[in-house]
Amino acid sequence: MEKAIQYELQLASRMSRLGTETAFEVLNKARALERQGRSIIHLEIGEPDFDTPSNVVEAGVSALRKGWTHYGPSAGLPELRHAIAEYVSRTRGVKVSSEEVVVVPGGKPIIFFTMLSLIDEGDEVIYPNPGFPIYESMIHYVGGRAVPIQLREENDFSLDVNELTSRITDRTRLIIVNSPQNPTGGVLPRRDIELIANAIGDRNIMVLSDEIYSRLLFDGGQHFSIMSVPGMQERTILLDGFSKTYAMTGWRMGYGVMRSDLATHMTRLMTNSNSCTASFTQVAGIEAIRGDQSSVDRMRDEFQRRRDVFVAGLNKIKGFSCRMPRGAFYVFPNITRTGWKSKPLADALLEQAGVAALSGTSFGEFGEGYLRFSVANSLENLNEALNRLDGWTRKNL
Ligand SMILES: Cc1ncc(COP(=O)(O)O)c(C=O)c1O
Repeated sequence: MEKAIQYELQLASRMSRLGTETAFEVLNKARALERQGRSIIHLEIGEPDFDTPSNVVEAGVSALRKGWTHYGPSAGLPELRHAIAEYVSRTRGVKVSSEEVVVVPGGKPIIFFTMLSLIDEGDEVIYPNPGFPIYESMIHYVGGRAVPIQLREENDFSLDVNELTSRITDRTRLIIVNSPQNPTGGVLPRRDIELIANAIGDRNIMVLSDEIYSRLLFDGGQHFSIMSVPGMQERTILLDGFSKTYAMTGWRMGYGVMRSDLATHMTRLMTNSNSCTASFTQVAGIEAIRGDQSSVDRMRDEFQRRRDVFVAGLNKIKGFSCRMPRGAFYVFPNITRTGWKSKPLADALLEQAGVAALSGTSFGEFGEGYLRFSVANSLENLNEALNRLDGWTRKNL
């Protein structure tokens, strides 16, 4: 009998620098517990629990029937790029043309493509911490130097502009801002955004402005983009998309808006990686942007209602204290007074209380002392989660 050869997997060294998004791992763990018959309330994953609005679904189905099932241009369908250019021009008060828009499968590729096209080995990238974990992962992956800037609870998780200024060096190539923010729900006030632009001054530094939650502001808050600050448009890559605004996470569609010469290079990255974003999805995207917007407002109002209930409930639980987030659909309570570290607490709550949340450290080192809960779940489930958390803390603290 011939002996089967065992081939050792020889990974490229860059793979050791790639991070991940823990939400998907916790989701898998929670699902495994459910398969064992356990009841779990899912507050770990960052996606709207609503269905995609029916006008958008119908536009997608109709596009499939009409044969929008082929390759399209790498940068996106001209009509969708045009609709996005109009939308961004109107909402950010700048003049954007179709050539400055690149449509991609989700918001994430814009983070990836920004790093690939702008960051050389050793270039410094300033990014928020705690923050969306893909920023740090991608900076490391392309060999950049990750320079975290701590978002502090006492500043309402805004960005300390003095600290930012002190981190800018001759090697700084990119600054990432994200408002409304994942995981804290913090919103950068207009004044802070202007101060950030001021701190950058006339340096040739690009800004990746992640505005994927731009339509999820509470209490009547108005979104403000750094792209709108005079002089910043040329140096801003705006990331936005359909996932959170229109409950379209599984459709995979997002976009970047940037100077047209950079858009050409990002389009080349699209050609090399995806060819194009799915064509029928893009036809539905035109309906999402141009059609009835009432479902967007309804979803936002519902998230606000849930946020109010959940934050009030958390503040009654021993060891938890929680600020009122002003955007996105996350709450980020401080749990230091439980005496537990974030990761073991998140694990214990999943295994013993049946509540799936994320450790603050899933969002970087400065997330220690916090947990992230998504309120994209029904009020009934959120109330049940509060009961379970309360029961667990009474028993264990
Ligand atoms: C801050 C932030 N940026 C980008 C994304 C990526 O969104 P998409 O699912 O459209 O790729 C997310 C998703 O969770 C996010 O929270």
